[in-house]
Amino acid sequence: MKIAVTSASGKLGVSIIKHLVAEIGKENVIGIARTPEKAKHLGIQVKKGDYNSQEDFDKALQGVDAVLLVSGMDEPQKRIIQHRNVINGAKHNAVKKIVYTSIVGAEENNAFSPIVKTNRQTEEDVKNSGLQWVIGRNGIYIEPDLEYIDTYVKEGEISNCAASGKCTYTSREELGYAYAKMLIEDKHNGQIYNLVGPAITQSELATYINKVYNTTLVYKAVSVQEYLAERKEELGVFMGTIIAGIYQGIKEGANNVSSDFEKAAGRAHKTTLDIIKDFKK
Ligand SMILES: NC(=O)c1ccc[n+]([C@@H]2O[C@H](COP(=O)([O-])OP(=O)(O)OC[C@H]3O[C@@H](n4cnc5c(N)ncnc54)[C@H](OP(=O)(O)O)[C@@H]3O)[C@@H](O)[C@H]2O)c1
Repeated sequence: MKIAVTSASGKLGVSIIKHLVAEIGKENVIGIARTPEKAKHLGIQVKKGDYNSQEDFDKALQGVDAVLLVSGMDEPQKRIIQHRNVINGAKHNAVKKIVYTSIVGAEENNAFSPIVKTNRQTEEDVKNSGLQWVIGRNGIYIEPDLEYIDTYVKEGEISNCAASGKCTYTSREELGYAYAKMLIEDKHNGQIYNLVGPAITQSELATYINKVYNTTLVYKAVSVQEYLAERKEELGVFMGTIIAGIYQGIKEGANNVSSDFEKAAGRAHKTTLDIIKDFKK
């Protein structure tokens, strides 16, 4: 059984590939990357696949039994077409199964909603592909927060507009484990899973970080408008708007969803504290 993973040069792709290799061996896993050289270090066969190119995926998916489509990073409307290039490539090559990494979040009402909506459209495209399918709706990765700790420490606080909203953080490591199972086990076919961890507030996040990193961070809530302006200044209009939209979604409960992680992975999701401890190692 040959399983291909797109965006093999990205952090989520690498995690899924690592767990797949552990399950079925290097010879059965194919990486597909826009920039194949960036995925060479994985020690598996790597083929070229730019989401903008139907031709790339018509070639890359030859001889593949199942494909994992990692959602793209482009502007919302472009993503739908890009994902269709992968889905069509799979159809053209009689690939039997497609697994898609979607996202948890509000489909309306915040600046992240257009991205959530494109993910929902790809979910529909995947369901209508005629292939066996499985969809994971990923929670927010916790790693970017942990990579940001130096800044939090400098500022003495975690500050955003999530207020007391709860977020079901996960990690790329946990997701990689679950997706490997979803790819190789037939019992998941036709399922949509929320791949999320325990729901925590930003204050709890600060407490866990303090425990592991021996810091003294506090959480400070700011208004959505204030946070949006600050993020746009720091990250530019496109990314700043997305990030502010994500935290507005958290404030309004969009990320406080029930978890299907155990159904998908066959084991419980790690606690947030354990994930932070693992990250620090
Ligand atoms: N749940 C969350 O918290 C969260 C957070 C951020 C993003 N996401 C979503 O999750 C996805 C994976 O995240 P990640 O952590 O793996 O991101 P990442 O490490 O930044 O990797 C992004 C990947 O997308 C690839 N890519 C970009 N444009 C492409 C194109 N036109 N054709 C093919 N590949 C392309 C990149 O390839 P190159 O190496 O060639 O650039 C890279 O492999 C993201 O794309 C995004 O949709 C989720």
